[in-house]
Amino acid sequence: MSKTSAAEEKADSSSAEQGAQALRPHAEDAFADELRALAAADDRPRPERWKMSPWAVSLYLMGGTLPDGTVISPKYVGPRRIIEVAVTTLATDRALLLLGVPGTAKTWVSEHLAAAVSGDSTLLVQGTAGTAEEAVRYGWNYAQLLTNGPSRRAMVHSPVMRAMSDGMIARVEELTRIPADVQDSLITILSEKTLPIPELGDEVQAVRGFNLIATANDRDRGVNELSSALRRRFNTVVLPLPASSEAEVEIVSRRVEQIGRSLDLPPAPEGLEEIRRVVTVFRELRDGATVDGRTKVKSPSGTLSTAEAISVVTGGLALSAHFGDGRLRAADVAAGILGAVVRDPAADSVIWQEYLETVVRERDGWKDFYRACREVSA
Ligand SMILES: Nc1ncnc2c1ncn2[C@@H]1O[C@H](COP(=O)(O)OP(=O)(O)OP(=O)(O)O)[C@@H](O)[C@H]1O
Ligand SMILES: [Mg+2]
Repeated sequence: MSKTSAAEEKADSSSAEQGAQALRPHAEDAFADELRALAAADDRPRPERWKMSPWAVSLYLMGGTLPDGTVISPKYVGPRRIIEVAVTTLATDRALLLLGVPGTAKTWVSEHLAAAVSGDSTLLVQGTAGTAEEAVRYGWNYAQLLTNGPSRRAMVHSPVMRAMSDGMIARVEELTRIPADVQDSLITILSEKTLPIPELGDEVQAVRGFNLIATANDRDRGVNELSSALRRRFNTVVLPLPASSEAEVEIVSRRVEQIGRSLDLPPAPEGLEEIRRVVTVFRELRDGATVDGRTKVKSPSGTLSTAEAISVVTGGLALSAHFGDGRLRAADVAAGILGAVVRDPAADSVIWQEYLETVVRERDGWKDFYRACREVSA
């Protein structure tokens, strides 16, 4: 790299400061210490332009302890093999598609993979029904275009184009929300590893290190089907729902603790009891049966994902910090649960009432929880 000027250095450090101050820092800023320690300890071969070896990337995602004692916190809780397959895919010429129901950490895993592999998770295209081709390929700076005509300088590079020329990981969120013709512009990029610029009779060729991580939601299938031509360019990795109640409780408590810290909420070690109950309620309603398998329950229309359980508990923690004694209680999570369960006011409230009366009411040690839920449901 060329020598950086003092001004550039200053700009760099102020953007790093800004990163630390951000409401939600990027993964590479939030976990900068872990990433640095991992890269330093890592002596395995690295694919070109990777900040660390595939082994170290997987360790960053799954957590562990380095020889020098540095503790790497787990980011993903689930089968290790899934992460190993995902990381390995990124080192091949196939792109990675993370698929799964809402709230299964697709976005989260994609961000951390990009942060560990390229040191930058911000080369991101957010897929919506309105995503235009410019967001995937390039656009034009019209002032420049009019004064100087079409040239490289008049181009506005998309995140994908930048990732191609710098050999980094680009991310596309919610791929199946993007209109089919825009999706198709990814085909050439992924199969030929080039981005033609017909206006200049030129092209941008991807350099080594470039790859792409896309996420897509199971539930959105049918909004815009992924064309089979595009799908063949991807290795698909399905992220499952947490296998057990304990795993889900672990995910929720870990994330709540991290989010709580960033919002300056007091730690809630005694909150585990409520987290267990939120997770139990969500799982039972999702699965359509009680944990003991004895009673069938109806499932409401909401997804009741792990992500929603996390926000119910975080909301409850804020309530207890600002209006209670700082200890998470049933009354603090009840309103949040109701909001997550009852999406369709007519059908879902019947389902919720029935669940409250037949399951929650009868359960040992759940009296306070039953009362709190009754109070907000009335
Ligand atoms: N298995 C898991 N391990 C660690 N964190 C998880 C897991 N499942 C869910 N989470 C947490 O859930 C939250 C939401 O995840 P994320 O937004 O990545 O979901 P998503 O699959 O992208 O959902 P959507 O389809 O709605 O976009 C994150 O904060 C993440 O930490
Ligand atoms: Mg997502």
